[in-house]
Amino acid sequence: MSSLTTEILGTSDADLSRAADLLKAGQLVSFPTETVYGLGADARNGTAVASVYAAKGRPSFNPLIAHVHSVAAAQQLVQWNDLAERLAAAFWPGPLTLVLPLREDHGVSGLVTAGLQTLAVRVPAHPTALRLLRLVDGPVAAPSANPSGRISPTTAAHVLAGLNGRIAAVVDDGPCGVGVESTIVGLSGPDPMLLRPGGLAAEDIEATLGTSLTDRDAADPLSAPGQLLSHYAPNARVRLNATEAGEGELLLGFGSMDCDLNLSAVGDLAEAAANLFEHLHRLDAIGQPIAVAPIPEHGLGSAINDRLRRAAAPRDDSSAH
Ligand code: TXA
Ligand code: MG
Repeated sequence: MSSLTTEILGTSDADLSRAADLLKAGQLVSFPTETVYGLGADARNGTAVASVYAAKGRPSFNPLIAHVHSVAAAQQLVQWNDLAERLAAAFWPGPLTLVLPLREDHGVSGLVTAGLQTLAVRVPAHPTALRLLRLVDGPVAAPSANPSGRISPTTAAHVLAGLNGRIAAVVDDGPCGVGVESTIVGLSGPDPMLLRPGGLAAEDIEATLGTSLTDRDAADPLSAPGQLLSHYAPNARVRLNATEAGEGELLLGFGSMDCDLNLSAVGDLAEAAANLFEHLHRLDAIGQPIAVAPIPEHGLGSAINDRLRRAAAPRDDSSAH
């Protein structure tokens, strides 16, 4: 792929107009969301979406999330229903993605849905993302802005470390507050299904729905597109549930303990989620194997453990993305 000069933009009106113009012209622009930095492309422009896969080196076409600025904009793309209404009213803008049947007149490139009859949509809760989405005023497809299979980016520096010269611009607005990707809920089948644990705790969604989510991972961990096991992988080997560092290992801690970096010394899962990818990036830069302390499996701990299991999974480059 030919090398571009990646522009680093701020959040002034002029810079965001520039970012919106680049997107509307079919260029790739990374922008902050409350979860992670996204790699945005005009979702209606097939060539632009194809270049997302090329820039990430994503070997197969896994469906992407369409980002929009409002419920009304989402309703122009997907067939809305009562559960969507309740979840959107409770959690949008926010770290929740809903998968719904496509409308006939959706206008989104088939590369965004990877040919599925459903679309993942989300309204991010980040003021800069929302300003940009309003300026574009159309769906923006955006996977996380990292090379295929690597650690997700929570700062503009992470984005540039992986994609500099492969994208037109990055909008730098500091670190992401949530730090893990959105929770994905499938609403196109008979029962609401948890497709990916993420930045909104499943327990909160279940409390709003008054029913439990069907857990797809429990049924078949590899059934979902884009949910292949090895992912979020540092260069270094990763070992889980470690209570101390082994020979030559760096210890990523949780709660009060002796370690090289701590996700949250006070044992706060939201703080741990916000630190997860930044700490993995920092330890990986040292170039030694990484041992990770056990993380409780509830609330945001489910999303953290999901990402850690994938970071520790055996590497198979044909399945990494
Ligand atoms: O927080 C996030 O969700 C971030 C920010 C940028 O918004 N985006 C993100 O995108 O994590 P990505 O591409 O890294 O992950 C999208 C996930 C994939 O696992 C994909 O398989 C799933 O969403 N997905 C997308 N469309 C789907 C669909 N129609 N049905 C089932 N899964 C879908
Ligand atoms: Mg990703």
